[in-house]
Amino acid sequence: MAAKTRMVDLIARKRDGGELTTAEIDGFIHDYTAGDIPDYQAAALLMAIYLRGMNRRETVDLTLAMAHSGDTLDLHDVAPFIVDKHSSGGVGDKTSLVVLPLVAAAGAPVGKMSGRGLGSSGGTLDKMESFAGWSPTLTLPQFKRQLADIGLVLAGQTHDLAPADGKLYALRDVTATVDNRALIAASIMSKKLAAGADAIVLDVKTGSGAFMPTVAAAEELARLMVEIGEDAGRRVVALISDMNQPLGHAVGNALEVREALDALRGGGPADLWAHCRAVAGHMLLLAGKADSLGAAEALVDAARADGRGLAKLRQLVVAQGGDGRQVDDPDRLPKARYVEPIEAKQSGYVTAMDTAELGWVCVRCGGGRLVKSDVIAPGVGFLLTVKIGDHIEAGQVIGEMHADDDMTLQQAQRDIPAALTVADDPAPPRPLFYATIDGEKN
Ligand code: URA
Repeated sequence: MAAKTRMVDLIARKRDGGELTTAEIDGFIHDYTAGDIPDYQAAALLMAIYLRGMNRRETVDLTLAMAHSGDTLDLHDVAPFIVDKHSSGGVGDKTSLVVLPLVAAAGAPVGKMSGRGLGSSGGTLDKMESFAGWSPTLTLPQFKRQLADIGLVLAGQTHDLAPADGKLYALRDVTATVDNRALIAASIMSKKLAAGADAIVLDVKTGSGAFMPTVAAAEELARLMVEIGEDAGRRVVALISDMNQPLGHAVGNALEVREALDALRGGGPADLWAHCRAVAGHMLLLAGKADSLGAAEALVDAARADGRGLAKLRQLVVAQGGDGRQVDDPDRLPKARYVEPIEAKQSGYVTAMDTAELGWVCVRCGGGRLVKSDVIAPGVGFLLTVKIGDHIEAGQVIGEMHADDDMTLQQAQRDIPAALTVADDPAPPRPLFYATIDGEKN
């Protein structure tokens, strides 16, 4: 069937800095989702949007068209109030794996639609697929049944839910069109609106490993998403969080799963836990489970301390076909063939990191995708145990590289230290959060 949307006209108008009408945006999303527009034209339009931007009206139109490209869930027959979270993307960001089970274990049902790795940033679904057999593909009845049964469900975009985002997300990943405010806002909020959450905590990252390089840009994106959500009748809070260095130590799918399991067991890097505790606390607060952030964080601590969080993750893994033994015994998770130390090349203080480059190191080793059809190698990645503000010595072991072949191993052993800025004078440690942006109706 020929496409109804004349893509050449839309591409040319956006290329020249013009606006797209509501009907044109609806037509593009409808026809692309139906398979009537080829990827090369969709990619050209994405690049034109990337370069020229979209105004607020176009962004809202794009979000709503994407949200309605499939079914939209009403989950109130299985849970009275559903809470969700979403990260704008970062390196080493395994927050969802820690936070979702803790929040569900603390009594707030979580129904989440997640994404895959995008550009240099990892994706929750790719991480979860480190569990053998685990699948994010659920039918709507399955999604609802699992939410009712265990209070936690984690799905990918399906043919039913926000399918336009699934297709566009994969295309953006390989066409250098990720870090654009309108495209990110529409991608995140379309999934959130379609999946039927009543309350959403947005973790908007800023810094050298985030799609929004400055706090101001992250705040703009956050405000836009909060407004889109509130207009659609959802309660939304956005946290602006630091991504000038990886979160925790692990970067790479199975390594991140291990680190998340450590955090749920009461260990793991301090920054990861502090970050997860705050995100989970805000989710419980929005869900009305506590009347202050402090009280909500105490609920999070309790769910971790008595093992309910870990047990909930095991339930999630098993419910979606995964091997629960890997939760209890992380040595059963996929491993890379080679594990070698990473050494510092210079002495001094770590003052900055090219965090996106650190993410790309993992992608180039097979931990992410360079083309849509790439298959992820779950065991590859690295541990980087130094943080901005630390003093290091040349030759000091600063981490551990996990690779499947000798060439990527050696390249990564050079690239990772090169992504660190080391200077004579110390830099202050980075804050975890910069701001909280609330919707007016919260
Ligand atoms: N996360 C998403 O779901 N979409 C984006 O575009 C970026 C991060």
